[in-house]
Amino acid sequence: MARNELHETARALVAEGKGILAADESEGTIKKRFDSIGIESTEDTRRAYRDMLFTTPGVEDFISGVILFDETIRQRALDGTPFPELLASKGVIPGIKVDKGAKPLALAKGETVTEGLDGLRARLEEYRGLGARFAKWRATYSITDDLPSDYCIWTNAHALARYAALCQEAGIVPIVEPEVLQDGTHTIARSEFVTSRVLAALYTELYDQRVDIEGTLLKPNMVLSGYEASSRAGVDEVAEQSLHAYYKHVPAAVPGIVFLSGGQSDEDATAHLNAMNARGPHPWQLSFSYGRALQSPSLKAWGGRPEDVEAGQRAYYHRAKMNSAARTGVYAPAMEQETVAV
Ligand code: 13P
Repeated sequence: MARNELHETARALVAEGKGILAADESEGTIKKRFDSIGIESTEDTRRAYRDMLFTTPGVEDFISGVILFDETIRQRALDGTPFPELLASKGVIPGIKVDKGAKPLALAKGETVTEGLDGLRARLEEYRGLGARFAKWRATYSITDDLPSDYCIWTNAHALARYAALCQEAGIVPIVEPEVLQDGTHTIARSEFVTSRVLAALYTELYDQRVDIEGTLLKPNMVLSGYEASSRAGVDEVAEQSLHAYYKHVPAAVPGIVFLSGGQSDEDATAHLNAMNARGPHPWQLSFSYGRALQSPSLKAWGGRPEDVEAGQRAYYHRAKMNSAARTGVYAPAMEQETVAV
């Protein structure tokens, strides 16, 4: 495997003005999203929804790659083209979620470890054959007064690095996603402390397991006050505390940091990304790999109605365009009023 191909793919995913759409909801998660708009989750409705997103005209100006779920990478678009082929034909790089979810960590009440390493080498080979050029593995950590434990932090870091090494061996760029969940009443200082410890462990394991850092991307949480905290930090403080953690612990060799939205409103996720980029330049590209913050308005506008496909596409195109502006720090909330013709 040419190392350069990994570097090139990683850099292409964070090309100027572009970011990633996370459309890799598992069957359980997409069912929750569909429940919220009152439609049934079936193989056909899931195909119709993803088809609506992936065929949005012109969105490839803002979207470099799409993370798919196992079912979707094997599905065909409504016109019969396999989804990975459809994306590649627009210059959008297909990716794949390969973890098998966060499961209870033994002897660690309230903590999780992400599973999916068994058989991963063979699955990666198959996914590459299906067109995947990058992958994602998500670990989660909860914040309380006592958690996460060192045990949870290091166990997940070890698994993330094992996943990353296997990806690189298969010619696939690993996105490493350590998500410190922002539910709870914690202060932003506590979030910064926990995020820093998680990142320190992650980069120690990646080096120890010989992962080529330039052929990876990092997908972290932003550093926020807990969603239930009595007083919550504003946009500037979020940008400063987040950058503080990454500057201490993310090597400059990492080509890009592609954030998850993690339950922020779509406009908050855009404003926070924008504020970080406005403080640039930084050693890494700062971009997005949002799920909910790119999809929520689109999901609502579509509502499962074939006649509203264009409305859904307009909403997705608009959020992608706003986040593209946030890539260079030129986003302003007034831009939300722009109307979009698809
Ligand atoms: P959200 O942006 O909805 O957090 O999803 C991103 C993701 O891929 C989570 O694993």
